[in-house]
Amino acid sequence: MQQIWLSLLSALSLRLVLPGGAEEGLEFPNFDGKDRVLDISERNYKKALKRYDLLCLFYHEPMPANKGLQKRFQMTELVLELTAQVLENKDIAFGMVDSQKDAKVAKKLGLEEVGSLYVFKDDRVIEFDGELSADTLVEFLLDVLEDPVEIINNAMELRAFERMEEDIRLIGYFKGEDSCQFPTLAHVQIRLQCTAVFPKSKHLSLKMNGVNFYEPFMEEPAVLPGRPLSEMDIVEFVTQHRRATLRKLRAENMFETWEDDMDGIHIVAFAEEEDPDGYEFLEILKDVARDNTNNPELSIVWIDPDDFPLLTTYWEKTFKLDLFRPQIGVVNVTDADSVWLDMSDDEDLPTAEELEDWIEDVLSGRVNTEDDDEFADDHENDHFVPEDEEEGDQDPDEEDDE
Ligand SMILES: *[C@@H]1O[C@H](CO)[C@@H](O)[C@H](O)[C@H]1NC(C)=O
Repeated sequence: MQQIWLSLLSALSLRLVLPGGAEEGLEFPNFDGKDRVLDISERNYKKALKRYDLLCLFYHEPMPANKGLQKRFQMTELVLELTAQVLENKDIAFGMVDSQKDAKVAKKLGLEEVGSLYVFKDDRVIEFDGELSADTLVEFLLDVLEDPVEIINNAMELRAFERMEEDIRLIGYFKGEDSCQFPTLAHVQIRLQCTAVFPKSKHLSLKMNGVNFYEPFMEEPAVLPGRPLSEMDIVEFVTQHRRATLRKLRAENMFETWEDDMDGIHIVAFAEEEDPDGYEFLEILKDVARDNTNNPELSIVWIDPDDFPLLTTYWEKTFKLDLFRPQIGVVNVTDADSVWLDMSDDEDLPTAEELEDWIEDVLSGRVNTEDDDEFADDHENDHFVPEDEEEGDQDPDEEDDE
């Protein structure tokens, strides 16, 4: 028996190492060894800018002397190489800009943050603020290449538009495709859907040349003031309303979202959409968000742990949570100190009202990450539930940070 298992196992792992036996069609790209990422310098950067639809530049510190750090550097380079290889037949070039050696070029191009990736498109620059993995980067770049304006031609496409509830959505009503030209929206990662087909477009409450804005998870749109609108008007409105009451953390802009905190904190909800409890909890969250959409103080970051397998164990450890269950809490972004709503009762999730009461307590400061800190100092271990008894000893990080 054991023998069979062993041979089965080795067959399986062989398949992993040497793909492409008899069956084809699922061949993951491996780096083929060909250098595609350019070493950007004063000599070549202008030409590269001119020649490609997109130019992605990674702005980095000089190669470190330490072996371990060198490996890390090479891994980043490999992510870029693999992305370049996968997107080889698109008109995209990749380059590395050394913050010391190429300081002049960096200054000319306006690169500021070391460790960041900048994407140049038609003389404009978009900073990529997401997870630096080939999957995420490829997805992001394909999005940037796409036309920011999509024409909605029929009821089916309209339904698809309505289902995109996790995104900021804009829909405009124009007379013909020609009057729906907003090319620069791509630079701010705004997508506008245009419809010209529906006479009067009754069910969208759209007026000719009008544009409606849907915040994520909202059913009712906001109408952009003014008609006709210029691209600048649209960009300005979206920039002002970008921080949604409920926003989903996504790999392609996760750092941007996290840096957009509310006075040093985030209200964070963990919920797996595919899990019945998680789904239920998310529906409650959406209700709360819809009730409070006009409160500019409130923004809840929803994280689906399924989207971030590499971060799940880190979050469980840092926040002392069980992420197989839905959770909601407050996180201080300075020290990752956090408090979480007690939802240990297996049967019942909190109601929308209970959740709103708790959120009110957070916004007013009655619930915060700081109170229990002092308490812990004064009373050591005597206030926590038994299963967390070691917590006091496990917290050396907290003191190190201060
Ligand atoms: C977050 O933590 C820092 C460092 O411990 C502290 O100084 C700050 O007051 C905290 N912020 C909030 C909003 O609790």
